[in-house]
Amino acid sequence: MADRDACPAAVLGIFTVVADTGSTRRGRVNGRSIAVFRAQDVVKTYTMGEVEVHALRGVSLELLERQFVVLLGPSGSGKSTLLNILGALDTPTSGRVWFREHELTAASEHDLTELRREHIGFVFQFYNLIPSLTALENVRLVTDIAQDPMDGREALGLVGLGARLHHFPSQMSGGEQQRVAIARAIAKRPDVLLCDEPTGALDVETGRVVLEALARIHEELGTATVVITHNAAISRMASRVVRLADGRVVADEINTERVSATRVEW
Ligand SMILES: Nc1ncnc2c1ncn2[C@@H]1O[C@H](COP(=O)(O)OP(=O)(O)O)[C@@H](O)[C@H]1O
Ligand SMILES: [Mg+2]
Repeated sequence: MADRDACPAAVLGIFTVVADTGSTRRGRVNGRSIAVFRAQDVVKTYTMGEVEVHALRGVSLELLERQFVVLLGPSGSGKSTLLNILGALDTPTSGRVWFREHELTAASEHDLTELRREHIGFVFQFYNLIPSLTALENVRLVTDIAQDPMDGREALGLVGLGARLHHFPSQMSGGEQQRVAIARAIAKRPDVLLCDEPTGALDVETGRVVLEALARIHEELGTATVVITHNAAISRMASRVVRLADGRVVADEINTERVSATRVEW
């Protein structure tokens, strides 16, 4: 389906039920779940000299509590652009975006910085760890400035690295470094975890361990999660799959045959 307007009410209804059985901590008004993110007619056009690149051509969607969304699409379809706009790393050319009841497209730079720091966890294809700091120190960079962080050891334990606290990035494999990056992203207990091609640089075996870590965090903390990939196999572990092509949402479906990350193959 093309966008949210084209999304059948029944489907949205199911999303709401899924959300209602979930977290009751936050993001609720009169017992109803508010979307974690809402994008309305988001357009992003890059102008490079004479050339206009239409990265997003009018995207509308909602992300609800506890969803594990795979955002699937070929290279260049606008996935990263959309994720960066949702995560307040970038702004749309037109359209509106909300994080819960806060409109990002009307917020000050100060508020956006605060939002990114407290509420959103980012994981990118390349891990962006500080080489001179241990795993635990890398995580503590974030927990030191967050309001209600979990202990760095606990975060590393959640991704299966409880025994590697004092190792440096150079002493760890790519998959392990990515799990440190995930621990760092979730240690501040974000409302939402945004992952851009988190397994893009990894082989299947290591990639699967990273996906297992994301699934475990989702299960244990209930953090709404978006995983960008061009790899259709990964969508099997999602609760919802949103497909992007040429800057548009071309499908938005609940995955009724969800499999555990251990069974994802590519
Ligand atoms: N900073 C930028 N300047 C110009 N064009 C860009 C920029 N970022 C992305 N694009 C273009 O926007 C389109 C969507 O890019 P992107 O969101 O990165 O896609 P994806 O993540 O799905 O591969 C592509 O055509 C890309 O070349
Ligand atoms: Mg991308």
